Amino acid sequence: MTIRKAELRDVPAIFEMINHYAAEKIMLPRPLTDLYESVREFLVAEGEEGQVLGCGALKFYNAELAEVRSLCVAPGTQHRGMGRALVERVLAEAESYGLKTVFALTLAPEFFLKCGFREVARERFPMKVWRDCLRCDRYFHCHEKTVCLDLPRPSEKPAKVQAEPAEVSA
Ligand SMILES: CC(C)(COP(=O)(O)OP(=O)(O)OC[C@H]1O[C@@H](n2cnc3c(N)ncnc32)[C@H](O)[C@@H]1OP(=O)(O)O)[C@@H](O)C(=O)NCCC(=O)NCCS
Repeated sequence: MTIRKAELRDVPAIFEMINHYAAEKIMLPRPLTDLYESVREFLVAEGEEGQVLGCGALKFYNAELAEVRSLCVAPGTQHRGMGRALVERVLAEAESYGLKTVFALTLAPEFFLKCGFREVARERFPMKVWRDCLRCDRYFHCHEKTVCLDLPRPSEKPAKVQAEPAEVSA
């Protein structure tokens, strides 16, 4: 399994994965047009045969803040380390842009806690509420938790950073 930037050809698979979980009300649906517009925000996990096995996106809000969005792995491929590998790559990308904080809204907060995030009040990110939550059908009965992670300042970085995530079975 390798993780790489998404390409236009990946959009149908990303669309299918996200909307599979949206049908189960685990994720919010994303229209195809939206995915084509934001494909440059996405990373994908690619299997041995070139199939898309997972995805995750980093959406910028300002020079310090971004959101991890649309993180999922293909049905039947959970608990193999792919989700964590995707988050690690998204965080590495966030660090490379000099961001200070990354947050996510999720129905799987425990997974993000395992990845080093902590739970916080959604009100900490009012621009998210204004941009997306207020126009969401589920606004008044939303069960998503908000998690965030403060990225290390350049001086706090460990001396040696591993370039690639460890191999995971897929
Ligand atoms: C959440 C999701 C991305 C996790 O991906 P994954 O590949 O199964 O996760 P990993 O195998 O990398 O797991 C990393 C750790 O988190 C734990 N974990 C994974 N999913 C979890 C969950 N739903 N609840 C609690 N812990 C979870 C794993 O047990 C593992 O813990 P460990 O390090 O102690 O062994 C995946 O389950 C998924 O696609 N879910 C549906 C979509 C979704 O909920 N996305 C969340 C963001 S909107």
